Amino acid sequence: MQNTSVQPAMQKASELSKERIYLDNAATTPLDKEVMEAMIPYMSTHFGNPSSIYSYGRETRMAIEAARKEVAKLLGARPGEIFFTSGGTESNNTAIAAAIRDLGCRHIISSAIEHHAVLHTVEHYGHDQNISTSNVQLLANGEVDYNDLEEQLKNGSQKTLVTLMHGNNEIGTLLDIKRVGELCKKYDAILHSDCVQTVGHYPVDLSSVHIHFISAAGHKFHGPKGTGILYVNGSVNIKPFIIGGGQERNMRAGTENVYGIVGFAKALEKAMRNYEVDSSYIKGLRNYMMERLTQEIAGLSFNCSEQSLYTILSVGFPKTERSEFLLFNLDINNICASGGSACSSGTDVGSHVMRALNKTENTVTIRFSFSKYNTQEEIELVVLKLKELI
Ligand SMILES: Cc1ncc(COP(=O)(O)O)c(C=O)c1O
Repeated sequence: MQNTSVQPAMQKASELSKERIYLDNAATTPLDKEVMEAMIPYMSTHFGNPSSIYSYGRETRMAIEAARKEVAKLLGARPGEIFFTSGGTESNNTAIAAAIRDLGCRHIISSAIEHHAVLHTVEHYGHDQNISTSNVQLLANGEVDYNDLEEQLKNGSQKTLVTLMHGNNEIGTLLDIKRVGELCKKYDAILHSDCVQTVGHYPVDLSSVHIHFISAAGHKFHGPKGTGILYVNGSVNIKPFIIGGGQERNMRAGTENVYGIVGFAKALEKAMRNYEVDSSYIKGLRNYMMERLTQEIAGLSFNCSEQSLYTILSVGFPKTERSEFLLFNLDINNICASGGSACSSGTDVGSHVMRALNKTENTVTIRFSFSKYNTQEEIELVVLKLKELI
């Protein structure tokens, strides 16, 4: 826990009031300087096509393979299990498509609070008359009901794909991925997990989990946008997902995003190197905000538990005429936060996650999400501004 003495924080807060405060780090994060520095040579001097056989090509090929090795080591995987992609959406689409097309899955178990990159992909395949879909039941706090998952797996008659996110991007609930892996093993199901909100924020050791696919995205942990990975367990045999040249071991054709790949690996390496310090700092900010909000504003609720992502604080404000325009007013006051993944224009157009959890009727939900670059003074300013706006 941080220094919670409010006075100095309040003083600094007033100095900061002219600047923008970014509390939407679950949407994306700024690029880390060290990451940018690692990328720059691959935008300038080291520009060769990795498929070229001469030295320019060889140096970029080596950079890609070094990045793959690094990412694999950090995730407890083998280099051959890591495929570089354009981000979380592509990786999620690919895993779900491959499970159906190449692994014979005919039923998909998912949840109503997945990111749209999974939710809409599952819906898309669900329109195929040969594919059925079902959602796992959720507890009131958004956690998966593991008994229901087991019941569904036990009673299923077709090869099943389970796709459940590791950390929810709106409310921060965490999946017990090991437990789900064991259930999938028991019932011979394929498991994919959208780990976009957890890779780079938690140590992930895939060697100890029974899992077939995971997705991650670099821009959630101070890496570059448009970069990600799909982990495909070595026991799984899938067909190419983009057809053309032989890149990514014939799985994803197209000249590689060399500087993006280098940036992804560097960002993950740095995130894991500094995990202890950064995570306890960010946790401290989140706890401070909870504490101060509770002190300053009556009738709040928090959509989280001790087990939730430390990077996210989802706050329910009592619905009033003023609170309905809260996001909009925060924006006018240079405070960037989010109403959920469906929020597009500064007004809260509604969150499928909050709807699924029946939390829209009397509550306006705002998600604040933190990074190592936020400060206690910023949090203080936001709390005071919220108090004023409410
Ligand atoms: C949980 C989750 N899955 C998938 C995505 C999509 O990732 P990307 O923007 O890299 O395509 C996001 C990003 O918002 C996310 O939070």
